[in-house]
Amino acid sequence: MSTRRKESARPWWQTEVFYQIYPRSFADSDGDGVGDINGVIERLDYLEWLGIGGIWFNPVMPSPNHDWGYDVADYCDVHPDLGTLEDVDRLVGAADKRGMKIIFDIVPNHTSDQHEWFRDALTSRDARYRNYYVWADPIKDGGPPNNWLSVFGGSAWEWHEPTGQYYLHNFLDTQPDLDWWNEDVRNEFDRILSFWFNRGIAGFRIDVAHGLIKDKALRDNLSTTDDDHPRARALAQQQTYSANRPEVHEIFKRWRKLSDAYDPQRILIGETFVYDLTRWAEFYGSGADELNLAFNFPFALGKFDVEHLKQVVRTSDEIIPPEAWPVWMASNHDIGRAMTRWCNDDPARGRVMMMLLLTLRGSPFVYYGEELGMPATPLESDQLKDPVGIRPWADDEGRDAARTPMQWSPEPGGGFTTADAEPWLPFGDLDAVNVEGQRGDPDSFLEFTRSLIRLRRQSFDLTDGAYVEGKGPAGMWVFKRGEKTVVAMNMSDDIATVQGVEGTVRASTTPGGIDEHAQGRLDLPPWSGVVVVE
Ligand code: NOJ
Repeated sequence: MSTRRKESARPWWQTEVFYQIYPRSFADSDGDGVGDINGVIERLDYLEWLGIGGIWFNPVMPSPNHDWGYDVADYCDVHPDLGTLEDVDRLVGAADKRGMKIIFDIVPNHTSDQHEWFRDALTSRDARYRNYYVWADPIKDGGPPNNWLSVFGGSAWEWHEPTGQYYLHNFLDTQPDLDWWNEDVRNEFDRILSFWFNRGIAGFRIDVAHGLIKDKALRDNLSTTDDDHPRARALAQQQTYSANRPEVHEIFKRWRKLSDAYDPQRILIGETFVYDLTRWAEFYGSGADELNLAFNFPFALGKFDVEHLKQVVRTSDEIIPPEAWPVWMASNHDIGRAMTRWCNDDPARGRVMMMLLLTLRGSPFVYYGEELGMPATPLESDQLKDPVGIRPWADDEGRDAARTPMQWSPEPGGGFTTADAEPWLPFGDLDAVNVEGQRGDPDSFLEFTRSLIRLRRQSFDLTDGAYVEGKGPAGMWVFKRGEKTVVAMNMSDDIATVQGVEGTVRASTTPGGIDEHAQGRLDLPPWSGVVVVE
């Protein structure tokens, strides 16, 4: 694996770079236009070449795909479009040979309405699995038990006429929420986690981690105020009681014990979709007894503005317990591609974004294609597949623009599928951005990303070193990592100068310049950055 000069005593998940794969969109091995596990196995050499240490897969379990895998019909199997359990075993083995670990997505907040638990729950109020879900009686006028709204729109309650009660769904009505007050549900998930751990899965990204448990008394949510995050305001109410309950921490303490009992190399990563950093930090518990990593949405959903992001990073660094470890991502399958959202498709900005991700203190997650500077793909409304984009009242185009196939080559099929196959989502601009065109070109985005990952893996400062914010002019982000590594990024439209940086330039967002000596004064062009080792 890595050839760091000074060996890190940290676990792999604190030093390695992660890569997120949306399995339907990464590589299609059987020509049906849908990516699959075997396709990923065929591309592991690429990920090893890139320098990846851990791969997070979006859900691979059987699902009617109303929410593309986030509506699980069986937690212990694989969707036939994506492969088989034997393919998973081969994937784990093939990744292990290359020094990579596999992280699966687990969706414990809700199941699919096709899951056998829910099918049974619908049969009667006394059904065996009825209480796996959140059921409530109507209020006097027959209306839903409280004011909770679904994240995907409308009431979060669906009336079930045959049994005369409402069931809760914080997402689609085909995604009924599980009742995490029920000990049987907790036991089921202990078994599910163990099932995958026993197959060699190194950990889980936990869907809706902040939301598993609901207010027992089902109190009404509070309204949003002007102080709330714009995303929270879009829902028109705070998820005061329909999510974000303190009892969720008990669940993760239990999971952490289970995970650590396997071996301390297993990890739990939370989709901790909260907007304030104090609440985010709570998911680390003492620093060693809850989640290993908690995704930082205040960072990822922030503006690509130097002062704003500095503030988030500074506070995040200060606020988490000393034993806890940060994690950074800029893009994912929900929030879109930062290359477009943050960088307006400008490769110079994209390189600065990549430099930031790969040099901050904490574990970076690269979203598939991000290493190439792949932008979001504009889609026509009749091409959309995401329920969020196609719901009748949708006011945006949903999340498909960030989920289009990986762009491997400019040929028909894009190296993703066969030339005659119809990809499940259309390709972006294959000619403009693809692996084949960039690999081997020292000035390409891909080679830039790869060289940064290499530098990071070889540098004890970058993997382990403390983060200390430095001084610079407006628009400039300067920080020191460890004893002698300085990162300076000009995140403005004007040339900017930083003083007092001496050493060898080890990475630069602009082609050339590597190994030059910085002699105290550094003039950085607009949207550029360097890593200097003193
Ligand atoms: C978060 C997932 O990332 C998203 O894709 C999904 O729609 C919701 N959770 C519901 O599972």
